[in-house]
Amino acid sequence: MDITSIQKTLEQELTEINNLDSLEQLKVKYLGRKGLLAQLTSSIGSLPAEQRAAFGKEVNAFKSRVQQLFNQKLADLEAIEQPKSKQVVDISMPGIAQDLGNSHPITQVIEEICSIFERIGFEIVEGNEIETEFANFTGLNIPLDHPAREAFDTFYLELPSVKEGKYLLRSQTSTVQIRAMSIRKPPIAVVAPGRVYRPDAVDASHSFMFHQIEGFMVDKAISFGHLKGVLEFFVHQVFGKDVSMRFRPHHFPFTEPSAEVDISCIICKAKGCSVCGRKGWLEVLGSGMIHPNVLKTVGYDTKKYTGFAFGMGIERIAMLKYGINDIRLFTENDLRFLKQF
Ligand code: DAH
Repeated sequence: MDITSIQKTLEQELTEINNLDSLEQLKVKYLGRKGLLAQLTSSIGSLPAEQRAAFGKEVNAFKSRVQQLFNQKLADLEAIEQPKSKQVVDISMPGIAQDLGNSHPITQVIEEICSIFERIGFEIVEGNEIETEFANFTGLNIPLDHPAREAFDTFYLELPSVKEGKYLLRSQTSTVQIRAMSIRKPPIAVVAPGRVYRPDAVDASHSFMFHQIEGFMVDKAISFGHLKGVLEFFVHQVFGKDVSMRFRPHHFPFTEPSAEVDISCIICKAKGCSVCGRKGWLEVLGSGMIHPNVLKTVGYDTKKYTGFAFGMGIERIAMLKYGINDIRLFTENDLRFLKQF
C-alpha cells in the first residue's frame, strides 16, 4: 500500500462527508482496529529489517497527519451542526468598529440659527421647494413685468399652469411669508429654513441650489426697532459680541423700507482685507418692513398690523463662520472636508 495514494483517497473522501455519522464511519475505515492505518503498521513486520525503521517513521508521521485531517473535519462539521444556543460567544473578542457619521455643516448651521430664533419666540416652519409664480413673485409684490423678476429668476416645471401661475422651484424662502401668513393670524413670528434654486453658473460663490433662512414677525406696532433688536441678537449669537452691524439702504419689492445688513469683517476685525474687499464690512442678509401689498395679499389689516422680514443665505453664513472659500465644497461629498465639522 502506498501512503501517498491513501492520503489522496482520504482527502477526497473527506470532502464528500457532510455529517458527523459518516465522518465516524470513515474514521473507523482508516483509524479503526482493523483499519487501513492498522494494516500499514502490521505490514512493517514483513519488510526487510533494514527498511523497517524508516517505513515505521513514515507510518507514524502519516498517522498523525490522518488524525489531524479528521480533527479538522470534525471541527468544521461541528461549527455548522451545533445549534446557535450551544455556540460559545467569546465576549473578550474586539468588536467591529462602526463609523459614526455626523450632520452636514449646512444642517448644523441651520440648526444653530433656528435655535437662536426659537429662544426668542420664533416658530420654525418649512415651506415647499416646488412653488407657484404667485408665492415666489406676484404675492411678494413682484408683478410679471417687474425687473426684479430677473434677480429672482428660477427653473420652471413643465406642468400645466394653475390659477396661481406656473409651477417652479422657489428661488427664495420668502415664499414662506405667503404660505405661513395665509394660514395664521398675527401675532406671528416665523423662521423658515430650506433649499432654493437659481439658474446661476456654478463658481466659488454661486450655485444653482443653496439654502436660505427667512424670518418675519407681524403684530400691532412692530417697528424697524424690533427688526434691529432681533438681528443684533442673532448676529452676536452667531459671530460674537464684538461684531458690529449696520443697515445699508436697498430695494426689495416685498419690503418698504428695505435694507441690507452688514457685519464688521470677522476676518480682519474691520481693518480691510481681501475677504471684505478692503471695506471692513461683510454683507450678510436682506431685510425690511413687510410691504403693505404683501400684508394685504395674505388678508392682514394694514391699518392694524405691521411687520418686518429678513432673509439670508446659509452657505454664506457658514462660509464666513468657518472661513470656507468655495461653496462647491458643501456638495462635493469629500469626507476630508465634511469630517472637520
Ligand atoms: N428673498 C431675498 C433674496 O433671496 C432675501 C430677503 C431680502 C428676504 C429682504 C427678506 C427681505 O425677507 O426682507 O435675496
